[in-house]
Amino acid sequence: MTISVSVFAFVQRRVKVFLLVFLITILVACWALTRSNESVPVTRLSKKLMQEIQQKIEVHNVEMFKQALKPINLKLSELERNFQDYGKKRFLPVKYLAEKDRKRILITGGAGFVGSHLTDALMMAGHEVTVADNYFTGRKQNVEHWIGHENFELINHDIVEPLLIEVDQIYHLASPASPPNYMYNPIKTIKTNAIGTLNMLGLAKRVHARLLLASTSEVYGDPEQHPQNEDYWGHVNPIGPRACYDEGKRVAETMCYAYAKQEHVEVRVARIFNTFGPRMHMSDGRVVSNFIMQALQDKPLTVYGSGTQTRSFQYVSDLVNGLILLMNSNYSKPVNIGNPDEHTIMQFAQIIKKAVGGKAPIVNVKKMEDDPQRRKPDISRALKYLGWKPSVALEVGINRTIEYFKRELHKSKKSKLVDL
Ligand SMILES: NC(=O)c1ccc[n+]([C@@H]2O[C@H](COP(=O)([O-])OP(=O)(O)OC[C@H]3O[C@@H](n4cnc5c(N)ncnc54)[C@H](O)[C@@H]3O)[C@@H](O)[C@H]2O)c1
Ligand SMILES: *[C@@H]1O[C@H](CO)[C@@H](O)[C@H](O)[C@H]1NC(C)=O
Ligand SMILES: *[C@@H]1O[C@H](CO)[C@@H](O)[C@H](O)[C@H]1NC(C)=O
Ligand SMILES: *[C@@H]1O[C@H](CO)[C@@H](O)[C@H](O)[C@H]1NC(C)=O
Repeated sequence: MTISVSVFAFVQRRVKVFLLVFLITILVACWALTRSNESVPVTRLSKKLMQEIQQKIEVHNVEMFKQALKPINLKLSELERNFQDYGKKRFLPVKYLAEKDRKRILITGGAGFVGSHLTDALMMAGHEVTVADNYFTGRKQNVEHWIGHENFELINHDIVEPLLIEVDQIYHLASPASPPNYMYNPIKTIKTNAIGTLNMLGLAKRVHARLLLASTSEVYGDPEQHPQNEDYWGHVNPIGPRACYDEGKRVAETMCYAYAKQEHVEVRVARIFNTFGPRMHMSDGRVVSNFIMQALQDKPLTVYGSGTQTRSFQYVSDLVNGLILLMNSNYSKPVNIGNPDEHTIMQFAQIIKKAVGGKAPIVNVKKMEDDPQRRKPDISRALKYLGWKPSVALEVGINRTIEYFKRELHKSKKSKLVDL
């Protein structure tokens, strides 16, 4: 105070008053600050406040976000799960093969029904598999579970155009296989089987690969011999509605043996009999798919003609085993691969009706043109040279196929995009 008093003595009166007011203000401020329960500096106080405010905004935002997302919450969690799965995509386990045992294998038509199961088997055995397919009747979804695997490659390719890749084995399956599919564009069917097979044989010749042709029991036509063995030459109408396929496969076989004789290409020819299983086309008009679809939808099961015509069906895993055994055997003549367990079409209708359940009736409709009356493979050659015979019972295969059809039907109903 003595300092203040001495200073006062030297300044003017107005200034004195001003300074006094100033001093009092500071004193009051200091007093207020000390009385406050928050004796922290102003800068720290505002930081704390900011944090609080930020927290409150965040909580608020999350609440708002949750509210906004409520209606699609379910989908969001699905999406999240998918993203998690995508990050660590898991493949079916594949065997490790040493380089000398590991083969580079091309499967034409590998996105189709049979081809996709063959892809599964060869991938799991540890080989490097390339699938070439134009998706005419195949689906990417059939091999979707291998996309991204280091041993797998998928090429969108039409085999009517040449394909140049390095491979050790070619499973040549590309061709529409069911009547509505191959009759849809008969010229394309002929081109695929003739020009496509020539292209694949040319590739096999260039890279010294072995080629297996997926031929068909249709090369026997409407057979006069029963059961059919490989020495039977067949009974085919060259100008009938099925000719584009039957004759296409016959000329494909002819070309295989021409290349074998003239160019020393190693060929294998599998004459495949009717096959069924998961991933077969649901609406391709073939007996098994027709009956299962009709039964699942409680529609009448339609039998063409009297239903006394016979068929023998093999389950797809049996076929795949047979194809792999044939490819790796040293037997180069045609080999029937099929199940000799013969049933009438009417019996099939009853078996499927029973397995599905439901009350749909079985009805007879008009007979189809060139519909073979009997079809049953003689598989003694496959047994003798490959040690192969089918092992999956009809009812077991039917049940597995019904499960697949149910899932697919459910999917298409859910998406409501497909009217089946
Ligand atoms: N499924 C059977 O009952 C059966 C019976 C006898 C023979 N086969 C033969 O087995 C093979 C496979 O039959 P599937 O039942 O799997 O039929 P599928 O229709 O499911 O498969 C054929 C595949 O070949 C593809 N393809 C067709 N034309 C092509 C082209 N020009 N270029 C590239 N790809 C093409 C299709 O997109 C499809 O993925 C066929 O050669 C068929 O003739 C099948
Ligand atoms: C300190 O002040 C805050 C708000 O400014 C108040 O919530 C709190 O009760 C006070 N504490 C004391 C001990 O006065
Ligand atoms: C095929 O292989 C078997 C044994 O795997 C052998 O006995 C047979 O002689 C071979 N045939 C030909 C034509 O090479
Ligand atoms: C097939 O499914 C039916 C109906 O679900 C069942 O009764 C039958 O035992 C099954 N058969 C086989 C061989 O699994």
